[in-house]
Amino acid sequence: MRQVTIELNGQPLQVDSDRYVIEVADEYGVTIPRFCYHGKLSLAASCRMCLVEVERAPKPMPACATPVAEGMKIHTRSPKAIAAQRSVMEFLLINHPLDCPICDQGGECDLQDIAVGYGNNASRYRESKRVVVDHDIGPLISTDMTRCIQCTRCVRFGQEIAGVMELGAPGRGEHMHIATYLEGSVDAEISANVIDLCPVGALTSKPYRFSARSWELSSMTSISPHDILGSHLRVDTLRGEVKRVVPAECEALNECWLSDRDRFSYQALTHPDRLLTPEIKRDGRWQKIDWDSALTYAAEGLLGVVKESGSSALGALLSAESSVEELYLAQKLLRGLGSHHIDSRLWRSDFSTQQGDPHRPGFAKPLAELMAVPLLLVIGSDLTKEQPLLAQRVRRAARELPCEVVALNPIDFDLRLPASPLSQHLAPLVLEGHLAGTVKQLAKLSGSAVAEPHREWIEQASVGTREEALADKLAQQHGQISILLGAHAMALPNYGRLQQLAALLAKLSGASLSLLPTGGNSAGAALAGALPHRLAGGATIEGGDAGMSWPQMFSEGLKGYLLLNVEPVDDCLDSQLAYQGLAKADFVVALSSYGSDLLREQADLLLPIAPFLESEGTFINGLGEWQSYFATVPPQGESKPAWKLLRVLGNLCDLAGFEQMELCDVTAELREIVSPLDDSDSVAVTAVSVADPSPSAGLQRLAAAAIYRASPMLRRATALQATQDGVRADTLRLSSATATAAKIDVSATDIELKAADLSLTLNWVVDEGVPPDCFYLAAGSEAARRVPLQGRFELSRVAD
Ligand code: SF4
Ligand code: FES
Repeated sequence: MRQVTIELNGQPLQVDSDRYVIEVADEYGVTIPRFCYHGKLSLAASCRMCLVEVERAPKPMPACATPVAEGMKIHTRSPKAIAAQRSVMEFLLINHPLDCPICDQGGECDLQDIAVGYGNNASRYRESKRVVVDHDIGPLISTDMTRCIQCTRCVRFGQEIAGVMELGAPGRGEHMHIATYLEGSVDAEISANVIDLCPVGALTSKPYRFSARSWELSSMTSISPHDILGSHLRVDTLRGEVKRVVPAECEALNECWLSDRDRFSYQALTHPDRLLTPEIKRDGRWQKIDWDSALTYAAEGLLGVVKESGSSALGALLSAESSVEELYLAQKLLRGLGSHHIDSRLWRSDFSTQQGDPHRPGFAKPLAELMAVPLLLVIGSDLTKEQPLLAQRVRRAARELPCEVVALNPIDFDLRLPASPLSQHLAPLVLEGHLAGTVKQLAKLSGSAVAEPHREWIEQASVGTREEALADKLAQQHGQISILLGAHAMALPNYGRLQQLAALLAKLSGASLSLLPTGGNSAGAALAGALPHRLAGGATIEGGDAGMSWPQMFSEGLKGYLLLNVEPVDDCLDSQLAYQGLAKADFVVALSSYGSDLLREQADLLLPIAPFLESEGTFINGLGEWQSYFATVPPQGESKPAWKLLRVLGNLCDLAGFEQMELCDVTAELREIVSPLDDSDSVAVTAVSVADPSPSAGLQRLAAAAIYRASPMLRRATALQATQDGVRADTLRLSSATATAAKIDVSATDIELKAADLSLTLNWVVDEGVPPDCFYLAAGSEAARRVPLQGRFELSRVAD
């Protein structure tokens, strides 16, 4: 890069020639006021607040849109620059209301701050101010559009970052205003970032609105449990209550953004379901008890199951959103009691190739390297809903590099990217066939043979034009490809084979393979041993000694369960199996922050635990980074950090290794176990059972975790539930062709679903992205509670 010499306020500087004046000023600590400029957005240069004097230029220049040039002399504080800046300030205040005392942005408003430096103390204008009518744009964002200074940050954010233009700037001149083009809500999964972007109080947080003044708040940082990046959070509290969550800047992970689920899930802290005291079920009635009795009862219950039915009758379901310390102690407790039936992969259905799983699910490379490729293959992922902030990085890579994104999904998800002609949406077995054919063709192109145990299976795959086209593309870009295997693939019944095919594709094309499961601490759960086939630190339990996966536990009908931060019916991919499985148990102890009716029906003992914002711990993100967080507010009621309860339970069960006094003792113990492990491994080749190539007759249900139903906290964030994604979670989706074949009127709003002895009426919509003979009903939704994951389904119109 060529260097140029410039002068900034008399200081000579050598800077890169591709930089703008405002960037250089920021780097050297020279303050230039601005409204429309934002480092992550394109240039608009519309507000003119950043005007500076450039010698020999006929008039002041906008620093955000003026590139540096050799010999340029810039003055940001000269009389000419200050006069220009003050004029712009006066111009902006002509129409801006003087309502700071009742504005939520007061105290943290760019306009307010800059007006102190550049505004007059009295207005020269006597004319009426412009008024803009407000519209309801959904449950997340409040509008006071009369305050808008038309910087268009919010519009550019939608266009460039979120990939969906929810807001626009219709009208011209005096009539220009910011609004939705069509009547609709602004609640795509990262939309609420416009709240932080808006430099005035035009867009504010609806859930937070009028609940505190910014100068009263105390702030702490924390880590997100919902996404695999481990986004950094700033948690603002007032008198022991979380008032709002905003992004804490971390350029390597979440940059300056936050997904809406991370921003608003704090609402669940005050949900009426909060469990505040230990409770025990006696003769079918729930009673509050003290902690000593509750813990003694829990230990006796677990030991009782072992004594009565043997340790193999005991299982544990653990949340991949719990901390590594909690997960480590929970699996240690179960293993100390003699059982390996431990699982945290509750949104996955096929475990046939689990021995080939990498030790740490997540990213194969740092994010910057992962995105710096010309070809990205997304297999089985609704990226925008599963990993919203990763999706915006992919969109940026697609736009800037450019990187071609090929999506091979069971449903035609809207990834908000230019569609690649190689992208396809295919029913699960057809998708498998397509990948197998591509592997076969790629092996032929590269002159390599597919080794055992996959050779025979791959040889049988058929190769058509679409497999040839994809294989050609992979061969062309050899070594410069990233493959992302997502949560929708993991939810499919043939995931084992899809995983192996992705691994073969990666091997033959020199690609990196990253796994993106649901649950922000999935990597931590795997390393902490919250798996039936691996101990903490990754040691494999061979063959028959391995424990059962969660579907096996429920099918086998275990007699006792320990639940950690899990409501099985809503947190397992197959709600019906979970419901029936728990009904067979004699003793269920749930360490939970919430006591729903359903959990009360199935548990015998409820122990209230503090959610992540009320406790400390560590999450390991998809990059393998250990990120610790502290309690931002005290635990509510009598709830306690789960790690302390698990440690006491270990002692009460008379197990060795539960002597830790502090949380850091648990963390250090796990770190020592994990440290020898090389967790940079990828999916290992392992044997698979070959599928019957003819798809089974009848309808197939497709399901995965709905974005706002995937954890107890998310389900209880009321603002998220009111978004389009929240409402749609209970809606069945199928194509018009499938509906017509079932003689269903596509204009009808309800549909009848029959499966085994079940018959229920559901809301439905036409979704042409769902493949033929399939329907989609999200897991974790209320509608899905009674619907099995697999079986014979019939859809019909609702009888008049
Ligand atoms: S609403 Fe806020 S962010 Fe959007 S244009 Fe107006 S001032 Fe800028
Ligand atoms: S910040 Fe430069 S014109 Fe707005």
